[in-house]
Amino acid sequence: MLKNKSLVSIDDVSNEDLEEIFTLSDRMLGVVESNKNPHLMDSKIMATLFYEPSTRTRLSFESAMHRLGGSVISVSDASSSSVAKGETLADTIRMAEGYSDIIVMRHPLEGAARLAAQFSSKPIINAGDGSGQHPTQTILDLFTMWKEFGKIDGLKIALIGDLKYGRTVHSLILALSRFNVELTVISPPSLSIPEQFFSRIPENVKVRKSEKMEGFVEDADVLYVTRIQKERFADKNEYLSLIGSYSVDLKIVESLKKNAIIMHPLPRIDEIKPEVDFTKYARYFKQASYGIPVRMALISMILGVN
Ligand code: CP
Repeated sequence: MLKNKSLVSIDDVSNEDLEEIFTLSDRMLGVVESNKNPHLMDSKIMATLFYEPSTRTRLSFESAMHRLGGSVISVSDASSSSVAKGETLADTIRMAEGYSDIIVMRHPLEGAARLAAQFSSKPIINAGDGSGQHPTQTILDLFTMWKEFGKIDGLKIALIGDLKYGRTVHSLILALSRFNVELTVISPPSLSIPEQFFSRIPENVKVRKSEKMEGFVEDADVLYVTRIQKERFADKNEYLSLIGSYSVDLKIVESLKKNAIIMHPLPRIDEIKPEVDFTKYARYFKQASYGIPVRMALISMILGVN
């Protein structure tokens, strides 16, 4: 049950919740396609506080609220808010809870959403906390797999790229660990999955580790490709030595199973070549489009109006 609860970690969502979210997201997809306002959020206000850049997450949350008939107030840049004057996160949240019914927050510090939830009487949705988690991205990632394959159980998923700093893969690994899946984790050694997430993978989930894609992606149902997270590196030379570590090109694509799909939370830099966009394997733009119905479903369930 998500009603009136904050969504800080993917652990806040049970598999039973996921089933309900998928069903409702499918219904919301119909609402989006019919272009009709269901007026579910009339008189409700969402505050979006984004202290890190975003295109998909902020715009899709705001679009989702508008499509439900609600309103949005927004901080899209910390420098234009009183954070720039030194206001604490706790005080900012105390203000935002008075101005809105639900707060969506992105913050550069891991744990910031958890802290915000402790100070808020209104639900907080974590839209990404540093290198921590990005639970609503994970829910739309799982929804994409569910739409494509009709199930999550039984899938072979290769997670590729920056598994150390990529918050989307952290939440996704925790979520996939609750299903009967096979995982292949592919990253440079210095960007492997942090132990706090890797140690949560249970024994029944088969895991392979590799530094290269070749020989490890050919049997995958899903390639989940991620960007090297430039903004998280203290040493820019280290980042420069890692860019271009992986590039999904037509040669890789030709080696995949015929019904495999390629996903990416986006934005991408150079880890998927543009020519791959035009192949039948590319799903990353479709995946991003599911951000609207999934977030409509989440807002409705959390505010208890569906
Ligand atoms: N996937 C994702 O979080 O994209 P944005 O950074 O553009 O929100």
